[in-house]
Amino acid sequence: MEETRNFPADFLFGVATAATQIEGGDRNNNWFQWCELGKPHQGDHCITANDHWNRVAEDIGLMQQLNIHTYRLGLEWSRIEPQPGQFDPEAIAHYRDEIQQLLTAGIRPLVTLHHFSNPLWLEEQGAWTNPQAVDHFLHYVEYAVRALSDLVEDWITINEPNVYLAMGYIEGIFPPGKKGDMRSYFRAARHMVLGHLQAYTLIHRLRAERGLAPTRVGVAHHLRIFEPFKNRWLACQSSKLYNHFFQDIFLEGMTQGRLRWPLGSGHPFGEKVFADFMGINYYSRDIIKGSFNPWTLFGKRTLLPEAPTNDLGWEIYPEGLYTLCQSMYQRYGLPIFITENGVCDAADTLRRAFIYDHLDQLLRAIADGIPVQRYYHWTLMDNFEWMEGYSARFGLIHCDTHTQQRTIRPSGNYYGRISRDRALFRL
Ligand code: GAL
Repeated sequence: MEETRNFPADFLFGVATAATQIEGGDRNNNWFQWCELGKPHQGDHCITANDHWNRVAEDIGLMQQLNIHTYRLGLEWSRIEPQPGQFDPEAIAHYRDEIQQLLTAGIRPLVTLHHFSNPLWLEEQGAWTNPQAVDHFLHYVEYAVRALSDLVEDWITINEPNVYLAMGYIEGIFPPGKKGDMRSYFRAARHMVLGHLQAYTLIHRLRAERGLAPTRVGVAHHLRIFEPFKNRWLACQSSKLYNHFFQDIFLEGMTQGRLRWPLGSGHPFGEKVFADFMGINYYSRDIIKGSFNPWTLFGKRTLLPEAPTNDLGWEIYPEGLYTLCQSMYQRYGLPIFITENGVCDAADTLRRAFIYDHLDQLLRAIADGIPVQRYYHWTLMDNFEWMEGYSARFGLIHCDTHTQQRTIRPSGNYYGRISRDRALFRL
């Protein structure tokens, strides 16, 4: 007989997507421009993506087939505010309609306001390196939240500020393609932290003014495990630096409103908590080996030789999810939402075990009293995977890039059964 173990009756299973990766059709954001320059893999372009903009009903139907309880979707800022201060009522009406369809289907929305892409006009002003980005962001948030607040309780202000900024200003592979520009990384990081803190208060205020409660606002943090190789001294120091500059300045800033060096100091908006849940996007671990290169924080990110990996060579390390739930709960005491977790696996040979092993770690955390409340699998269907274009396949559903034909993968059906029964079983 199959052994099954139950999740709590109020645990929610979901899927996550991002607007730029699935919608198609928008020419007004920085990723459109980046694709025009031919930057992503083999010239792949986000202009079509999954054509989700025109296939909302079909995709919600697929979510229903997967028995999804909650859907994390993104809004495309550049559609909603095509020019600074000019809002497009049709764009917001489209999202309103999509959210209404979700609610009718019994699926609870979790809405992301910023997920890597900026309107072109903001990009041209230096994006988040410009202090004015904060006010622009708040203006957009106010418009979007006013328009949707009666339908949406749960919000993510910003997705993975660390990845967005590291890729754009240090690695130089996301727009604006700057390399090793640490100054811009920290400047923009400070502005994103300040943007989140004010957006947090604003969203709560806008819903409270209409007598709407409860409201949940948080950040989707990209968290990795940085593990020092053989606990050697230099590797340990380097891992601390990675934790500080890549994770803690964002965690402390956005959760507790505490600016840490080099973003600033003190609590500019008071000593409070600025998150109602801890959003964790978890994919992998890095083994840090000591190195004498200050530009890589005295470390080199590597893998153990026997490490299992996905199609992109990222280590599959389920225990890391438990470790992060435990350390985040210890530090912040907030309920935990796994806002992304998934695997690049075109052949669909890894995904079922990946799901099992990661959910198993969540059951372990729950058994230890850690309030893990939601799990969003990344992602619903194969999509435009940023620099990997259409070559990297993270979907529970296969999507044919040319015909847009969607086909649920065996792992999708597996996840659908887990979600339906709120029970984990091995295949
Ligand atoms: C995250 C990101 C997603 C998706 C995923 C898989 O970093 O938030 O948009 O790209 O990684 O690579």
